[in-house]
Amino acid sequence: MDKFKVTPWEVEGRIDYNKLIKDFGTKPITQDILRVLEKHGRLHVMLRGGYFFSHRDLDLALDDYEKGKGFFLYTGRAPSGAMHIGHLLPFIITKWFQDVFHANVYVQIPDEEKFLAKRGLSLEEIDKMVETDILHISSLGFDPHRTFIFRDREYIRHMYTPAVKVAKKITYSTARAVFGFTNETNIGIGFYPALQIVPTLFEKKRCLIPAAIDQDPYWRIQRDIAESLGHYKAAAIHSKFLPPLTGPEGKMSSSVQETAIYLDDDPRTVKEKIMKYAFSGGGATIEEHRKRGGNPEVDVAFQWLHMLFEEDDGRMEEIRKDYRSGKLLTGELKMMLIEKLNRFLEKHQKEKRRAEKLVRLYMHDGKLAKRMWEG
Ligand code: TYM
Repeated sequence: MDKFKVTPWEVEGRIDYNKLIKDFGTKPITQDILRVLEKHGRLHVMLRGGYFFSHRDLDLALDDYEKGKGFFLYTGRAPSGAMHIGHLLPFIITKWFQDVFHANVYVQIPDEEKFLAKRGLSLEEIDKMVETDILHISSLGFDPHRTFIFRDREYIRHMYTPAVKVAKKITYSTARAVFGFTNETNIGIGFYPALQIVPTLFEKKRCLIPAAIDQDPYWRIQRDIAESLGHYKAAAIHSKFLPPLTGPEGKMSSSVQETAIYLDDDPRTVKEKIMKYAFSGGGATIEEHRKRGGNPEVDVAFQWLHMLFEEDDGRMEEIRKDYRSGKLLTGELKMMLIEKLNRFLEKHQKEKRRAEKLVRLYMHDGKLAKRMWEG
């Protein structure tokens, strides 16, 4: 078995997602739970394709909705470099849940986290990135009456009281065990988990958190302490990691140019990167590919189409069959992905140019934002 590692700050190796479900004590997203979700709205391709693969208490959140109590949504982004497509995916599914379940959405922008966690990144550098990140998130078109986006260093006055209550319940030994903190860890990052837990307590309803599975350690701690603070244990849905273009190991990283598709990449760059770097499950030569076929399980272009972009399940099955049999070549498969990706990015970049006005609503002037500032 290959070795792998998943923490909020490090993801390495070829990840065995079934093993993660066991190790973290989460549950798989089964066909049964997808059928319940489907009663409320057409399933998003990231749910149908298995990109979101694991959960905690999603069933209870859905029960709460059916009983009329509802739930609220919470997710976040810690600026540390240009946003790549993997960073946007939790926000896209959050928007889907907001549309289907009419839920409030809270977006945390911890503009201190990566300063504390990473060597060599200054607060000033982070401050330069924050606005662009918020524009990317805002361009998805969340409901302005039901969405609040906040930066930790700006909203801290309203978070500090609940944060100290949370912090008092987390011991060093828990933090060491869950996050792997050592004697070298600075006390800033030692306190930070309290701040990431606070938004799960913003309403007296169950909080549902879409994120990649690296963020689960926070929710594990939250679930140990929430009830003693008079709140619900957080529910979560976990995604896999978008692998780097270059292969199925680890996660796409902002700091390695050729492994990532950034949200601001232009169509030519996308085409070049996919053609040059996207890991192929195809044969070494056309002849060999025609004879033996390709392996969709490791092929990055296939995986992206399947988990993120191809809305038509019938078409996806055809692509799988044709790639396996060798009828469809790697280059042709890559072109399919390039076309879908560029269409997606073109729309995203256009919306981003128009998102300025929305940012003000989400952060200050919208109904939910005003309520949060008034406390
Ligand atoms: P951050 O900024 O590292 O990542 C933002 C979101 O993207 C997910 N993610 C990925 N998903 C797929 N493939 C990848 N390669 C990949 N890399 C990152 C992360 O899981 C995250 O959902 N501590 C958080 C910020 C945060 C937060 C939250 C996240 C604050 N509150 C609540 C989720 C929910 C962070 O550093 O995310």
